[in-house]
Amino acid sequence: MAHKAEDAERLVSAARADDENSFELKLRPRRLREFIGQEKAKEQLAIALEAAKSRGEALDHVLLFGPPGLGKTTLATIIANELDVGFQQTSGPALQIQGDLTAILTNVRERQVLFLDEIHRLQPVLEEKLYTALEDYKLDIIIGQGPAARTHVMEIRPFTFVAATTRPGLLSSPLRSRFGILLRLEFYTDDELRFVVTRSAEVLGVGIDQDGAAEIAMRSRGTPRIANRLLRRVRDYAQVRGTGCIDRETAGHALKMLEVDAHGFDELDRRLLLTIIEKYDGGPVGLGTLAATLAEEEDALEEVYEPFLIQIGFLDRTPRGRCATRLAYEHFGLPMPRRQAGLF
Ligand SMILES: Nc1ncnc2c1ncn2[C@@H]1O[C@H](COP(=O)(O)OP(=O)(O)OP(=O)(O)O)[C@@H](O)[C@H]1O
Ligand SMILES: [Mg+2]
Repeated sequence: MAHKAEDAERLVSAARADDENSFELKLRPRRLREFIGQEKAKEQLAIALEAAKSRGEALDHVLLFGPPGLGKTTLATIIANELDVGFQQTSGPALQIQGDLTAILTNVRERQVLFLDEIHRLQPVLEEKLYTALEDYKLDIIIGQGPAARTHVMEIRPFTFVAATTRPGLLSSPLRSRFGILLRLEFYTDDELRFVVTRSAEVLGVGIDQDGAAEIAMRSRGTPRIANRLLRRVRDYAQVRGTGCIDRETAGHALKMLEVDAHGFDELDRRLLLTIIEKYDGGPVGLGTLAATLAEEEDALEEVYEPFLIQIGFLDRTPRGRCATRLAYEHFGLPMPRRQAGLF
C-alpha cells in the first residue's frame, strides 16, 4: 500500500515548520496548570482529561475555536502532555488529496493526539472521509480505478482528534457534531495578561515589575501572543536604553517608540475605524466595501481585526454592515454625528 509512514511524516512536519517560531515554542505552557486564564474551557477540559485517564480510553474529540493567538495550538499540545500520549500536527491547507489524510490516519498510534489546525480550510471531500474515522475509527479506502475499483474498510487505532479554527461558523454541522468537547477561547483580561507577561519574563530571565507587566498587558489586545511579542520588543529596548529591567517608565517609552497606543491598536485598527468614521459617516458599511477601501483581505478583517474591536465596544456588526461606536469616536477625539449618536 502506498501510504507509508514517511508520507505521514512529511505532511506532519511541513505543517510544523511554518507554524511556530522558536520564541513562541519556548514560551508555550506545557501543562494545564501553567495555562493562564480561560477558566471555563480549562475546567471542562480538566474533567474530561481526568475521566478519560481513569477509564484508560482515548479522550473525546476536541474542537478549539476563537481568534488567533489565544492559545488553541498551546491547548492542543497540553492535551497530549496531560494524557501522556504522542502528538502530531497538520493543518487543513496542508492536506491536499485523499492519500494525505489516509496516510496520516493509518499511521496514528493508539490514543495519541492528532491536531488539525485551520480545520475550516479542509477540503469538503476530505471532511467527509473524516466522518467515519472520527466516529467508528474506520476508513474507507478505494483500491484500483474505474470499474475495477473496490472499497476496502480499514480499521484505525482509537485516537483523539483535536481541531482548531478561527472560524467555527464555517464548519458544517455534521462535522461539528463529531466533536464531544467544544472549547471556546475568549480574549484575556488585563490581569490575566499581566500573569502571562510575568511568566514569560521569568522564562526569558528578564527582570520586570508589576507596573511594567501591567503596561504591556493593557496594550496586548486581550491576546497572549501579542503580549509576548511586545514583551520581547520592550526587553530589547530595556537592554539598550535602560537598565535591562522593565518598569512602567521603560515599558511606556518602548511602547511609545513602537507606536503601540493605549489600546494596543496598530496601524490597520486605526485605519479601519477612521475609514468607517470619515469615509462612511460612521457606517453601516459592508465588509466587502470596507475591505476594498482598505485594500485588505475580508478574511483578515473578520478573523483578526474585528473580533477585538467588537469585544472592546469600538465596532458594531449590524445586519446592514459595520458601524463605528461612540467609544471609537471618543478614542479619536472626533464628534459623533447626531444620526449615529441616536444608535448608540
Ligand atoms: N493561557 C496562556 N498562558 C500563557 N501563555 C499563553 C496562553 N495562551 C497562549 N499563550 C502564548 O501565546 C502564544 C500563542 O498561542 P497559540 O499559538 O496557542 O495561539 P493559537 O490560538 O493557536 O493562534 P492561531 O489561531 O494563530 O493559530 C503561545 O506561544 C503561548 O506562548
Ligand atoms: Mg495555532
